[in-house]
Amino acid sequence: MECNRFFVIADTHYFASSIGAYGEEYEKRMRYEQKTHAETQAINEAVFEYLESVKDIDVVLIAGDLTYNGEKESHKGFTRLLKRLKESGKRIYIITAGHDYRPHPYGFNENGRFDVEGIKRGDLFDYYYEFGFKNALAVDREHLSYCAQLFPGVRLLALNNDDDGTGKPTYSGEQIEWIREQAIKGREDGQFMIAMNHYPLLPGKPVFALTPDAVMKNADAVTTMLADEGVHLCFTGHMHNQSINEKITEKGNKFYDVCTGSITGCPAKIRIVTIKDEKTVKIESMPVPDFEWDMGGKTTEKYFADQFDMMINSTIEDMAGNPDRLLRDFGASGNRILQAVFSRLGKIVSTSTIGSFSKKLLVKADPAISERKLQDLVAEVVRNMFEGDQPYIEGTPEYELFMKVLGRFRPIIKILNKKFPSVNGKPADLFEIVKHTIGNYGIPDNEAELILK
Ligand SMILES: [Fe+2]
Ligand SMILES: [Fe+2]
Repeated sequence: MECNRFFVIADTHYFASSIGAYGEEYEKRMRYEQKTHAETQAINEAVFEYLESVKDIDVVLIAGDLTYNGEKESHKGFTRLLKRLKESGKRIYIITAGHDYRPHPYGFNENGRFDVEGIKRGDLFDYYYEFGFKNALAVDREHLSYCAQLFPGVRLLALNNDDDGTGKPTYSGEQIEWIREQAIKGREDGQFMIAMNHYPLLPGKPVFALTPDAVMKNADAVTTMLADEGVHLCFTGHMHNQSINEKITEKGNKFYDVCTGSITGCPAKIRIVTIKDEKTVKIESMPVPDFEWDMGGKTTEKYFADQFDMMINSTIEDMAGNPDRLLRDFGASGNRILQAVFSRLGKIVSTSTIGSFSKKLLVKADPAISERKLQDLVAEVVRNMFEGDQPYIEGTPEYELFMKVLGRFRPIIKILNKKFPSVNGKPADLFEIVKHTIGNYGIPDNEAELILK
């Protein structure tokens, strides 16, 4: 097999600048956003210009959430970019996702938020026909999925799972059968099969398994089927984080989920994938290039990181003053005990240093970190989780601190473990979840060589 290379980008969230995103209400909203909004047209233009400039990579995969919220103007602008890139000689394979047909897309101006025209899910096939469907070997139009020949000997299953009528990402039985047929056919034809799917199939980080739509409902069955039928690698997006995770089925087959962050928010990465031979795939990551925007003197990386940290810092403020806003995300709205715990925690996090916080809990922090503001550590830990390769593994002062602190809350954690959904079929264990959230022990998330079988 010859060496095949391609780009993967995800969650482009293109928002046409002509709609408008500014004003007081917009600024207020952006306090809670991980990704940028007004900047996204400029970011996409810079990323596409870069992709076009790389002459030795001809294939680009885009893993869904193409537009901000499905604004008609954004679809028009984004497809213009796709067309230009295609005309430059690239082959483009997209899938769409939930943000491409939201029922009430909007913009912002000095008077606040206003509605704009969107498109229907049924229109997506025509909008994006040229970018995957047109030259596909097989198309499942109802599910906006297709199977395409990426290179000689390499086939892509571009899968969409955002509409089973329940509003939750999942595959219907009928679609699973179509996927199985394509996988078997690929195997019989001697093809190296890979997949792309917007919603993660394995939780990027263990804590994501607690978020309602972070992983598909029937992901376990689907990943087992894919791996056992010979599809060992899938590119995903949606959570806007960088992660690579592995599962081994009962039959001993491997399945890898390579999740790529959004180009419009920290960590803002582009993946470069090299299929080295029939069982080895190399994954590399690079930052999105600089884009045309007034960043107030910041580097692009700092600009994205500051947007991310603003979201965390606003969330900590809400923890203290409006805890129910956060509990709603965990399906625990109205829970008085959790409200009290969140509120107290929020106040402590925003006013303590690591040292003073530890002292209150009768825990000893390493002097090397005790002067640091607790809120800064929390913001960094969350950002690390999205950037991947989290550094606070066993033996670091930060790891020791987190475990000692959790130990002080053991009785509450026992209650919480029962309230959270199981993770990969096992009961939730907050100690394990936190351990793997602050430190990455598995495959590196940004640069890795995967052995598929
Ligand atoms: Fe997204
Ligand atoms: Fe998404």
